[in-house]
Amino acid sequence: MRGPHNIIRLIRTLATLERTGAIGVVLEAMDAPPRLRAVARVLGWPFKWLGLKGDPALPPATRALTALGPAYIKFGQILSTRPDIVGDELALQLKYLQDKLPPFPVEVAKRMIEEELSLPVDQMFSSFSEPVAAASIAQVHRARLAETGEDVAVKVLRPGIEKAFRKDIDAFYFAARAIETLSPASRRLRPMDVIRHFEGVVLGELDLRLESAAAAEFAANTAKDEGFRVPQPVWHLSARQVMTLGWAEGVSMSDNAAIDAAGHDRTVLGARVLQLFLNHALRDGYFHADMHQGNLKVGADGAIIAYDFGIMGRLDEYTRRVYAEILFGFIRKDYRRVAEVHFEAGYVPADREIDEFARALRVVGEPIFGMDASRISMARLLSYLFEVTERFGMETRTELILLQRTMVVVEGVARSLDPHINIWQVAHPVVEAYIAQNVGPRALLRDLGKTLQVVARFGPKLPGMVEARLVQQNAGPKPAPHAVHPVIWMTAGGALVAVGVALGALL
Ligand SMILES: Nc1ncnc2c1ncn2[C@@H]1O[C@H](COP(=O)(O)OP(=O)(O)O)[C@@H](O)[C@H]1O
Ligand SMILES: [Mg+2]
Repeated sequence: MRGPHNIIRLIRTLATLERTGAIGVVLEAMDAPPRLRAVARVLGWPFKWLGLKGDPALPPATRALTALGPAYIKFGQILSTRPDIVGDELALQLKYLQDKLPPFPVEVAKRMIEEELSLPVDQMFSSFSEPVAAASIAQVHRARLAETGEDVAVKVLRPGIEKAFRKDIDAFYFAARAIETLSPASRRLRPMDVIRHFEGVVLGELDLRLESAAAAEFAANTAKDEGFRVPQPVWHLSARQVMTLGWAEGVSMSDNAAIDAAGHDRTVLGARVLQLFLNHALRDGYFHADMHQGNLKVGADGAIIAYDFGIMGRLDEYTRRVYAEILFGFIRKDYRRVAEVHFEAGYVPADREIDEFARALRVVGEPIFGMDASRISMARLLSYLFEVTERFGMETRTELILLQRTMVVVEGVARSLDPHINIWQVAHPVVEAYIAQNVGPRALLRDLGKTLQVVARFGPKLPGMVEARLVQQNAGPKPAPHAVHPVIWMTAGGALVAVGVALGALL
């Protein structure tokens, strides 16, 4: 962790930021405290000549990170999803970081596959292509299974990438710790947390078994979604550094001309991409959190195909219900109700003034609903909402920020397909259907059913539990006079079990 190599890395990074002119942009965007600015300039400036030059055609921050290598590119990409840390402007700049690198030779890929799967490549695949795509962490080949003749995509990690990332992450931690020590005021930016978040995301992507598992779970959840496909993992040809998926062919989602030429209706595709995303987030609580155009294609039959399951988002059932109610409250302009939902969920501390909160929510909703229909954005609504809730004491939650940032990307994809899309109109039926299913009497009954099923599992044990409790009671000290007798609890439990079993069978 400590040591001269980390100091050298830190200086090289600062020197590169100086040389590319990115230092000012970065310090400004993060609103860095004065002492931190001073130290960064003093450490970086004298070594400017040692910094990497980068590609002068790129904007400063992008230029610096691209020059510094894969871990920095990835770091920048992850920061682009955290405008709460780097500000909106820099986040937007970082979004355009191209994660493209020269491929490594097919022979190296084959050697890694043989090592990982302990079989000769020829025995597994009857054909194996040159790389079809290459990014900072992995590259993809097209191959054919020797056994079945099925076409597959084989993703292989860059050789030595894990070690290289670990070294860089180590240096990031060193820098974060140095920043916190030098400038306590910078703790507001939570540098250590940011690096921990980065490490979590990246280490996840460095183990392709996790991506295979994500692909499998996502494919299972969405199997019945019409007009949507997820390639299935081929488990016996997948491991930590190699992942094999069914090959899924299509035209790129960023190529409108090709989509038109293939005869697909972009209005339909735009609406579908948004509705799919909402359904995955609300219905399944498991969504693709990297849904940019590079990870989407349109198949010959018009289905949308998703690739790349390295970053997925999860929302628990409770959070989904709360947010569906919040969105629905906004749709009905019932700001008081939206405020109440926040209080009921304990998201906003109980000592805050509810009317004032409702008023702040009106300020969020009204301008957005007053907009021209083609400019209304759910992502913007959520982003304004989080600003207000934070002001009222709600803690920032990573999974909600991920949801909001993905919504920005998905809305962008939908708009690029259909510039006239009305986001609310398209989203409305999905939110409404979810509310009908999951909030209200039907949901209450289902919850009750589930609870009772849990209680029912104790059914055969209940008589024994009653007896044991009674024996203990007789032997032990007298219960407090106001305590409800355990037998009453047990009897009530028994009755609940009966109802539970009946309901469980019905629902
Ligand atoms: N199952 C597949 N079928 C066909 N092409 C694929 C498949 N998986 C990946 N690809 C192609 O390889 C590209 C890169 O794959 P991806 O998983 O997005 O890698 P990365 O994580 O490096 O972005 C995709 O954009 C797609 O064009
Ligand atoms: Mg990708």
